Amino acid sequence: MPLSAKLVVDIHTHVYLPRYAALLRSRSSVPFIRSTTTHQGTSEDRLLILDHEPSGGRPVGAQYWDREEKLKFMDKHGIDISIVSSANPWLDFLPASQARTLASELNNDLEQYCSTSPVVGNHKVKRLYGLGLLPLVPEITTSALLEIVRQIGSLPHLRGLIMGTRGIGKGLDDEALDPVWAAIENAGLIVFLHPHYGVDGSAWGDKGNGHVLPLALGFPFETTTAATRLILSGVFDKFPSLRLLLAHSGGALPALSSRLASCIGHDPIVASRLKHDARYYLGKLYLDAVAYGPEELGFVSDVISRAERYKPGTSTKNAANRSVGSKRMLFGTDHPFFPPLSSSNKWASVTENLEAIADVEGWSEEDKDGVRGRNAISLFNLEE
Ligand code: URA
Ligand code: ZN
Repeated sequence: MPLSAKLVVDIHTHVYLPRYAALLRSRSSVPFIRSTTTHQGTSEDRLLILDHEPSGGRPVGAQYWDREEKLKFMDKHGIDISIVSSANPWLDFLPASQARTLASELNNDLEQYCSTSPVVGNHKVKRLYGLGLLPLVPEITTSALLEIVRQIGSLPHLRGLIMGTRGIGKGLDDEALDPVWAAIENAGLIVFLHPHYGVDGSAWGDKGNGHVLPLALGFPFETTTAATRLILSGVFDKFPSLRLLLAHSGGALPALSSRLASCIGHDPIVASRLKHDARYYLGKLYLDAVAYGPEELGFVSDVISRAERYKPGTSTKNAANRSVGSKRMLFGTDHPFFPPLSSSNKWASVTENLEAIADVEGWSEEDKDGVRGRNAISLFNLEE
């Protein structure tokens, strides 16, 4: 029996698997979890993962590691299936040998987390699927990376991998990663590109704005830069079937894509390196719909639709239909980050994203169903 077209699939949702949370607890420098005592005398765990972590870190609890909490959250918000990924900063801070062992162990843990989850209704499809981890750290060997790509490809409930922006130290446009992109492309795995470092914190001033500037601006700017560098490296010319999913609706890349194309057009060295106009490559991307507003989602889908015009042999200058772009956008929540500040039934970080999808002008009901779940079912091959 085919899955309902109305299923809701969350493709941006995180976990600190118990093995990883234990590692964070064992540490006393960033990234780590520390137990503190509140003013009321109760104990509270706090997560410190960013350099210069504001506000003494963020409260952290069972939502971050307990699978039952993930399922309860999904039930509360009408989410049928989640594609769960480890949260930042992944293995970035570990020496190569430890990163390699832990990647393999965490991938097996995540497979277990997903494969033993309940099924959707009367279907065989599970409620949880996962994105694995690669040991992307300096000094790791290519063969170790390829071995872990193979492992992820062999675990039936893992459908891709999450990665940050540093690669093995020189960023994602490092040619040393070419064999890794080739192996990922070959295995048909989805790469979820997610930020962690933000951008130079000195830009944030000293007015005590907490996590607002690093998360609202730094995170998406980091994704913008990493994705742009990948485009400029010609990764989509070399690996045309590579499927890259960008966090937070691609950050500022959609808004800056014509400026990017213009700057390339004025730089003879870069211009000669690429086979297509920069706007063409935006049509190769998938983007989460974690943008919190209907106007932003509509705009992003316009920019993705416009890529059609830059396909070889296309002469049309007609306004693109934003429905085309919607097919590459997928609902997400960023759970368990952004919990409500006061006790409330549903999380605003979920309801705002669902309302935004429902309110996009120019998306049909079918487009909206696509963004809420159908696109993910097809991208992650969830149909039984
Ligand atoms: N904050 C984080 O550190 N990671 C996320 O994914 C979201 C918010
Ligand atoms: Zn996230």
